[in-house]
Amino acid sequence: MKKLLIIFILVLCGCQSKVVTEDEKIKIIVATDMHYYLKEYYEECDWYEDYVAMGDGKMITYGDQIMDDFIQSVIKEKPDLLLITGDITLNGEYGSHQEMAKRLSVLNDYGIEVAVMPGNHDIDNIFTKGYGKENNFKVENTSVEQFRNLYKNLGYHLSTSTHTESLSYEIQINSQYSLLLIDSNTHTLTSGSALDNGGKISESTYEWIEERLSVIQKEGRIPLVSLHHNITDHNELLNSSYTLRDNQRFVDLLNQYGVKFTLTGHIHAQNIKQIDGIYDIVTSSLVVAPLQYGVLEIDSGNVNYYTQQIETDIESNDYFLMVSSNRFEESFEAITDEDVREKMKDVLVKTNLYYFGGTLADHKDEIMSMEGYPYFFLEEGEKLGFYVSYLNSMLSETLNHNALSFSLYQSK
Ligand SMILES: [Fe+2]
Repeated sequence: MKKLLIIFILVLCGCQSKVVTEDEKIKIIVATDMHYYLKEYYEECDWYEDYVAMGDGKMITYGDQIMDDFIQSVIKEKPDLLLITGDITLNGEYGSHQEMAKRLSVLNDYGIEVAVMPGNHDIDNIFTKGYGKENNFKVENTSVEQFRNLYKNLGYHLSTSTHTESLSYEIQINSQYSLLLIDSNTHTLTSGSALDNGGKISESTYEWIEERLSVIQKEGRIPLVSLHHNITDHNELLNSSYTLRDNQRFVDLLNQYGVKFTLTGHIHAQNIKQIDGIYDIVTSSLVVAPLQYGVLEIDSGNVNYYTQQIETDIESNDYFLMVSSNRFEESFEAITDEDVREKMKDVLVKTNLYYFGGTLADHKDEIMSMEGYPYFFLEEGEKLGFYVSYLNSMLSETLNHNALSFSLYQSK
């Protein structure tokens, strides 16, 4: 009778407690920046494949296979939740979002909940377009409301609090943990030149975050925080344009409520850095070699994060080496000796591969013993300018970024 009365009261006030799992031990898969692009937007274009192979290593034309293999990997992993930290689509095409929502919904049939948030490419994108036989063609982009509606069963249905002025929301993982999915995109693009790379948390979002952190604290739960943009610089050359604007204010707020780590994406590289004692765990892009996702397990306050590659027969490392080589081609023409040029290029291409996968610290000796390495510090290096700094910035990594364990109860 008492139980019935409680249920009646909960239904009456519309505040049913929605938890993702009743278990104390939780497992969350974090995937990000898959930049899915619906095939019909480029299948008529003969040169699209070559065009992408000059890009940044995203395996856009493999999107369908990667998603198929990824979904199978997630089903095998049986997490409580799949968290996607933004840049779900290439450039916010409505059709790409629609297809992703359909594909992700399959996981619900296996009892796996999914929660998404938008990245800087997903909403009101002014670069949304298709590639036809001869010309680009117009493609519908996606508004804030369309996003909320498309993913209504992929995160928003679990929300225990929703911020109406952004796409931020909160979900309760179990009796101990609440997860904030923070929308760090401004949705107010005017020029579109940088697609708001740095991201911004609006005043009203700040108010909502503070209110939620305070409620979570009062109710005795531990807050987990995720957002698309990074809360600190991860590389001296990839810094201000990728890190959340006014990040110190955000970091101070998280520290005030004892948040120990954030889950982010955006830079496509696997990287973990600390700022004022908070770990910013960046999972690399799902469609960039080695096609990996993060696994976050929390048991009795012990956090264990590690990466896992999707089970696939796609040769992503070869693809990434090929694209990096294409990209560096022109700049390396400054090196006249062909043999030296190729050897130097091999060094940078390989360093890039390990850097993006987060394993460079384990491969430093291999890089430094390559035949082309010493040339970067001789007169040949002077001809490359930026690339010597780029190589050095990557090689300054001293840690492996594919695993991290710590206790939520440990003081910093
Ligand atoms: Fe991004």
